[in-house]
Amino acid sequence: MCGIVGYVGSKQAYPLLINGLRRLEYRGYDSAGVAILGTDGLIVSKCKGRVSDLEAHVNGTPMAGTVGIGHTRWATHGEPNDVNAHPHVSTNGDLALIHNGIIENYAPLKEELISRGYKFSSETDTEVLVHLIDDIRRNEGTDLAESVRLALENVVGAYAIVVVDRNTPGTLVAARKSSPLVIGIGEGGDLFLASDATPIVEHTRNVVYMEDGEIAILDREQGLRVRNIKNQEKRPSIQALEIQLEALEKGGFEHFMLKEIYEQPRSIRDSMRGRLNLAQGSIVLGGIKDYEQRIVNAKRILIVGCGTSWHAGMVGEYLFEEFARIPVEVEYASEFRYRNPVINEDDIVIAISQSGETADTLAAIELAKGRGATILGICNVVGSSIARQTHAGSYTHAGPEIGVASTKAFTAQVTLLTLMALMVGQRKGTIDGARYRQLLLELEAIPAKVEKVLKTEAQVKYIGDIYKEARNALYLGRGYSFPVALEGALKLKEISYIHAEGYPAAEMKHGPIALIDEEMPVIVIATHGASYEKVVSNIQEVKARKGKVIAIVTEGDTTVKEIADHSIEIPASPDAFVPLLAVVPLQLLSYHMAVMRGCNVDQPRNLAKSVTVE
Ligand code: M6R
Repeated sequence: MCGIVGYVGSKQAYPLLINGLRRLEYRGYDSAGVAILGTDGLIVSKCKGRVSDLEAHVNGTPMAGTVGIGHTRWATHGEPNDVNAHPHVSTNGDLALIHNGIIENYAPLKEELISRGYKFSSETDTEVLVHLIDDIRRNEGTDLAESVRLALENVVGAYAIVVVDRNTPGTLVAARKSSPLVIGIGEGGDLFLASDATPIVEHTRNVVYMEDGEIAILDREQGLRVRNIKNQEKRPSIQALEIQLEALEKGGFEHFMLKEIYEQPRSIRDSMRGRLNLAQGSIVLGGIKDYEQRIVNAKRILIVGCGTSWHAGMVGEYLFEEFARIPVEVEYASEFRYRNPVINEDDIVIAISQSGETADTLAAIELAKGRGATILGICNVVGSSIARQTHAGSYTHAGPEIGVASTKAFTAQVTLLTLMALMVGQRKGTIDGARYRQLLLELEAIPAKVEKVLKTEAQVKYIGDIYKEARNALYLGRGYSFPVALEGALKLKEISYIHAEGYPAAEMKHGPIALIDEEMPVIVIATHGASYEKVVSNIQEVKARKGKVIAIVTEGDTTVKEIADHSIEIPASPDAFVPLLAVVPLQLLSYHMAVMRGCNVDQPRNLAKSVTVE
């Protein structure tokens, strides 16, 4: 939700900021803007649309300067237009400010500032910040950093902000609470700042992850200084970045989403690397080792997440219940936090998040932590807020996921949950030894099987072409395949804008069957396993109503093939591992249907990759 970049140093800021904004565009693409401080003063350029629209807008305007800030917006308050775009500027033109988050008490602050003569030009919550800081600076005579600190004492909400002041050249002041900010320390006094490390990695590998309540002063002469909200100096902790630059490029694929779908054999392998040891028949999850016994003793596991991460959590529920015999509840983080849930001190809460920044998931963690539960994280982004706020956790190691639609993050999350459930099951003795070893062998074989599934792409594309004009689609699955049906439906609706619903196959006859006619594609996961015969009956029910069935079947299947309109084969696998294979053709189907409909698959309308607002 909004991407922020900043730079102070000896190089020209504008090209650095534009490159940085391109990397952060996945966070929001309603508008973009920059403010550059240079010999021509403080120049601000901003407009509705994407970073490429900003470049066209800037075209010709001199943008010389070695200090600057940039923003790409996902609108919360105020429609996406030029005026609501960031940066926002103080009335006297001294300050420019960018913001990611929501200022919850902006209305009373705005009223107060208006009563004192400030004029607002935008409908955003952000604009109050720039006037408030300006007001304090002029009335209190404080420097920029102190004015920011005092202003933030009055603010309720979430923010990552960066301010530039034409009276303080060579300096940027940044602050964070609940929205992420990373500072890069480059050569020769160069300092970078961004919502995540992706704009920084090509300049330096030395980074400081800002903590909540911190204010950072990035100064060309004096380097980086960090203070807390009480004005006490803090020593910044410098860490080394591990992301590879190539991971941020499309690598010859037309879209990030397709690249990320194809990366899954590698990303699933990486999420098992060093953790699954076939020779020793062991699973070691270093990040949660100290909490292993607590998980083994747990009477209950709560899993929280949003969107795709919630779907992965549902697969986790089936896995923990089957292998570790621990009751599991899977909760939408947003519902969990507002429902006064019963949380016990011996509960284990697993928070799942690709970005590690999802506001609702963070709030759910805070709530459960406050009630004494043990919180484990499954995150993809290293150093993210969720990774830091949990007691312990395991990274998925899927590599940067840039496409807004989550693909490889899902399979990596499910892989980790599988490892956890098997590990706990083995420790508890709830899986028989021979079965455990067989399952480890099967799990190890999954990446090669995913490679095989990817070979169905041409067939999937052909099927997508037939149904690309569909207005609705239904996804059905049972057991482990029910969360896959939900995930397939989410993928289709978010990138192709075709209305899609996922259902447990047996629930179809309790309502959704009324929707079925000869226009309706029904995508059914009908692989060999515990509920195969039941799903075959559900397919018959669809066919009896002239629905069109696209079935995901096990290699060699003949029964479903005879009744379905189309069938896509995936290799045989234990039920528990089917989600890792069955989801792949569904990802490809959504991708191709969306591309054929002319949709922007990497940046679908109204969405953002990282949802840092509630
Ligand atoms: O970063 P997170 O995993 O916490 O994000 C959760 C959801 O916002 C995310 O999965 C979203 O649903 C994706 N667009 C799904 O493709």
